[in-house]
Amino acid sequence: MHSGIPLPDKVRHAAPKRQAEYLAGRLCAREALQALIGTPLVPDMAESRAPLWPSGTVGSITHSGDLAAALVAPATCYQGIGLDAERQLEPVRAERLAPQILTPDELRRMATLPASQQAHFVTVVFSLKESLFKALFPLVGVRFYFQDAQLADWNPDAQRATLRLNRALGERWPAGSLLSGQYAQLGRYVLSLVTIPG
Ligand SMILES: CC(C)(COP(=O)(O)OP(=O)(O)OC[C@H]1O[C@@H](n2cnc3c(N)ncnc32)[C@H](O)[C@@H]1OP(=O)(O)O)[C@@H](O)C(=O)NCCC(=O)NCCS
Repeated sequence: MHSGIPLPDKVRHAAPKRQAEYLAGRLCAREALQALIGTPLVPDMAESRAPLWPSGTVGSITHSGDLAAALVAPATCYQGIGLDAERQLEPVRAERLAPQILTPDELRRMATLPASQQAHFVTVVFSLKESLFKALFPLVGVRFYFQDAQLADWNPDAQRATLRLNRALGERWPAGSLLSGQYAQLGRYVLSLVTIPG
């Protein structure tokens, strides 16, 4: 393979699209690790599918459509980071997905928005929750779902949000724990980031 990036078994037998997105994400991760630690390492894949970052680093990978990105940071600064890109949802799809992605509180918040902004709101909350999952899962080892966290605060002008856990995820993360997120529009994608300080 030209990239020099080995494909794990799960990916080697997958469709070409999956192989391409895996490689795109790993290329981004390798660049990011080169910039951070000076060595172009490629994270392996855990059984859970989470990337296995080199000791002393944390990171996250995302890919969607024609976009792939990775972010890494020193583990002394962050316990975890989650990065996610979602293509902006079409209004009809956003309306269909909203009851799965949004909690009752979030549905009420969406209903206060002009109709023209509702699909963007669903996309942002979707992406933030995926980022939250990627940041927290490697720390807690427990899968959790869209109703298990919700927006506690949302500042669309600053493109920042605070997410609150609706259930405990181990002793260190009781229900009510708050986590910070931010997001940006990148062409037709929403890119979001959740960081858990060290
Ligand atoms: C894991 C998940 C978040 C990935 O998100 P996605 O939008 O499908 O896909 P993305 O392209 O953005 O991200 C995929 C990357 O996430 C990373 N990832 C996968 N599982 C992961 C995990 N358990 N922990 C951390 N990162 C993970 C991987 O790097 C993966 O890319 P790769 O397989 O090529 O290495 C998603 O598939 C999932 O399981 N969601 C349900 C759980 C959830 O979101 N709950 C919401 C809680 S509020």
